[in-house]
Amino acid sequence: MGRTVSELVSPLVGLWLLLCSWGCPGSAEPRSPPEKIAIIGAGIGGTSAAYILRQKFGKDVKIDVFEREEVGGRLATLTVQGEDYEAGGSIIHPLNLHMKRFVKDLGLSAIPLPSGLVGVYDGETLVFEQSSWFIINMIKLIWHYGFQSFRMRMWVDDVLGKFMRIYSYQSHEYAFSSVEKLLHATGGDEFLGLLNQTLLETLQKAGFSEKFLDEMVAPIMRINFGQSTGLNAIVGAMSLSSSDSGHWAVEGGNKLVCSGLLQASKSNLISGSVMYIEEKTRTKQTGNPTKMYEMVYQIGSETRSDFYDIVLVATPLNQKMSNITFLNFDPPIEEFHQNYEHIVTTLVKGELNSSVFSSRSIDNFGLRTVLTTDNSDSFINSLETKYSVRKKETPQSSTDGTYVWRMFSPETLTKAQILKLFSSYDYAVKKSWLAYPHYEPPEKCPSVILHDRLYYITGIECATSAMEMSAIAAYNAALLAYHRWNGHTDMIDQDGLYEKLKTEL
Ligand SMILES: Cc1cc2nc3c(=O)[nH]c(=O)nc-3n(C[C@H](O)[C@H](O)[C@H](O)COP(=O)(O)OP(=O)(O)OC[C@H]3O[C@@H](n4cnc5c(N)ncnc54)[C@H](O)[C@@H]3O)c2cc1C
Ligand SMILES: *[C@@H]1O[C@H](CO)[C@@H](O)[C@H](O)[C@H]1NC(C)=O
Ligand SMILES: *[C@@H]1O[C@H](CO)[C@@H](O)[C@H](O)[C@H]1NC(C)=O
Ligand SMILES: *[C@@H]1O[C@H](CO)[C@@H](O)[C@H](O)[C@H]1NC(C)=O
Repeated sequence: MGRTVSELVSPLVGLWLLLCSWGCPGSAEPRSPPEKIAIIGAGIGGTSAAYILRQKFGKDVKIDVFEREEVGGRLATLTVQGEDYEAGGSIIHPLNLHMKRFVKDLGLSAIPLPSGLVGVYDGETLVFEQSSWFIINMIKLIWHYGFQSFRMRMWVDDVLGKFMRIYSYQSHEYAFSSVEKLLHATGGDEFLGLLNQTLLETLQKAGFSEKFLDEMVAPIMRINFGQSTGLNAIVGAMSLSSSDSGHWAVEGGNKLVCSGLLQASKSNLISGSVMYIEEKTRTKQTGNPTKMYEMVYQIGSETRSDFYDIVLVATPLNQKMSNITFLNFDPPIEEFHQNYEHIVTTLVKGELNSSVFSSRSIDNFGLRTVLTTDNSDSFINSLETKYSVRKKETPQSSTDGTYVWRMFSPETLTKAQILKLFSSYDYAVKKSWLAYPHYEPPEKCPSVILHDRLYYITGIECATSAMEMSAIAAYNAALLAYHRWNGHTDMIDQDGLYEKLKTEL
């Protein structure tokens, strides 16, 4: 071979050898797996990451999952008279494929959720009321809103249909280094553009009427995200898909998926609160100085620390919530100033005073869900009957004519407020949350790669907050961590994946 060529090539080879000394695709010796991985947060994001990381890195890596409260995070139940009810994330869409697979892998059961009748309350009256007769619903919808609800379905299906491509990419193990790249790979410029548009302007441009937006769309945003149509159009479309049928939940409570994944991944749960993360150089047994992350955490009043090769953050990163300090990073790891919506869940077992909503007697009040419009001046965002996480069969009208109702409200309800809605009640329990981001497009999504081997899962909530989104982000971060560890750059941020995988079929 000519000298000039080798002269040109050798620096590249040198660089290649340097970069690939730990193993590159196709190189004979793959880099040995990391020794220790830390995950912060044992919600659905953190626990699905543990599950995938175990599959990718094998049985020898030690995986520690830090949780300062309960395993499950925003998947949690509240107890009323010895029965548990979902207080946070409760409904799972039939096309949430990761959740579906986890439930199957873990041997858990799905409970189909009955789709009860829905009404929309504007503070004075029910502006829309579903009927148990399919044909009557059709006529009502057309009468009230023309064919807009059918057009709405088509728009939502189109948006979600593209996003479903993510499952194909992930099953082929492709990863993305940012939320924007992940979104772009599924639906292109148009889809990513929705992140910078409000749902309101998107649907107005598409010709939907004010009446339809106020009476149908806004109430769905209020129950799902405690805000109105000013949120971005991606979360808007995902939220509208909650009006589909075929929803389900996990028997025994959705949080069982988290504890199940934790156990199946053979991770070690550390019940403590992470305070600081700092990169330091350590000498491992092999004698090589290696960069690792030192994590300082608190268990009770005791402060401890440990070193990790890779760290994944699976909780919203802000002072009010996770309160994690990144020490001495250069450049510093930015604070993400995403505001989270304060939402209170209240469960009431009692008799609804249906005359608040309608002149019909309680016996003829068939609604299982009452949504509210923005101008309703209502102290609640929504009201719905909930069934215990144990019940598989369709819920009975309880023997004493009372149901358990779940309300979402921006503030804690007073006794007087509860008595405005219920003629009488036996029990009321509540839980308050910093529930999901307050969406205000244009959205700037946080980075997935915070530092060399430090990843942020929960940033995906800039696009939508849902169990499945956390699972998708966890899957992505686990694949990304794996590919970056092994230098598989050809598996990261690939263009034209949709076309490529289509021709591979
Ligand atoms: C009221 C409500 C209703 C919802 N309804 C639905 C629904 O019907 N369907 C749906 O799909 N989604 C729903 N969601 C959204 C869904 O619940 C969330 O998107 C999802 O559960 C988020 O999971 P996660 O693992 O990303 O975060 P989280 O569940 O918040 O987990 C983060 C965990 O990290 C822990 N943690 C934080 N900081 C530290 C620290 N410093 N050290 C140690 N541990 C720490 C926290 O205690 C927490 O357990 C709802 C959410 C709420 C609040
Ligand atoms: C959305 O807006 C943000 C902030 O203005 C900008 O950084 C980003 O590039 C925009 N994204 C798209 C897809 O237009
Ligand atoms: C955040 O953590 C620091 C110590 O790490 C503590 O002093 C402070 O009170 C915490 N802030 C909140 C809002 O929890
Ligand atoms: C039910 O609500 C109506 C209308 O707000 C009110 O007039 C009535 O007194 C209430 N009934 C009970 C039993 O609280």
